[in-house]
Amino acid sequence: MKKIVILISSRGSNLQALLEANLPCRVAAVISNRADAQGLEIARKHGIQTAVLSHKDFSDRAAFDAALAATVDGYAPDFVVLAGFMRILTAEFVGRYAGRLVNIHPSLLPAYPGIDTHQRALQDGIKIHGCTVHFVTADLDHGPIIIQAAVPVLCDDTPQSLSARVLCEEHRVYPQAVRWLCRNQVWLDKAGRVASDRLEQPGSALISPGLE
Ligand code: GAR
Repeated sequence: MKKIVILISSRGSNLQALLEANLPCRVAAVISNRADAQGLEIARKHGIQTAVLSHKDFSDRAAFDAALAATVDGYAPDFVVLAGFMRILTAEFVGRYAGRLVNIHPSLLPAYPGIDTHQRALQDGIKIHGCTVHFVTADLDHGPIIIQAAVPVLCDDTPQSLSARVLCEEHRVYPQAVRWLCRNQVWLDKAGRVASDRLEQPGSALISPGLE
């Protein structure tokens, strides 16, 4: 059975969705860069080993990432799963786990990398927003896309209401992506593209606002 390590920074709702999804893998550990991350308690309740590595204890990003890699490697995971891990990773760290490091981001990438995605989406007046699971590359919030979910933006949305609608979909697509990875049904090919042995299953169009 495959082994994964999950990296978090705070709330841990995606972590919880992953832990409750009955995935075909063992979660070897949950690692946080913050000791007060609520997700640590979620991990403990599920009997998962936890570790805290504060970035504040290191002089620079490279030193933190080297220590993080040493901690991660101690669990010998097949995949490293970023679930709300809010640290920019160095190219060295990302390269070490090429094809084995995935992230979830609350926008339809490549739109809205970075923070405050829901607020920026509302400011721009876009009608469809969503979330993305992708392989991590050295470019922040970029990388080959495994799965996306789209949601309508409603006229009375606030960043909070839109965030909640997107988060519901995050909790559906992230377990799906990790399941595909652990079953070797999706992988990063030599050309750096997402490959899959699955038949394409086109869904229906999301039109927002809806047609009359
Ligand atoms: C999630 O919305 C996730 O997509 C986002 O942080 C939140 C973490 O929530 N990640 C990023 O913005 C990464 N660039 P959670 O701790 O409840 O899973």
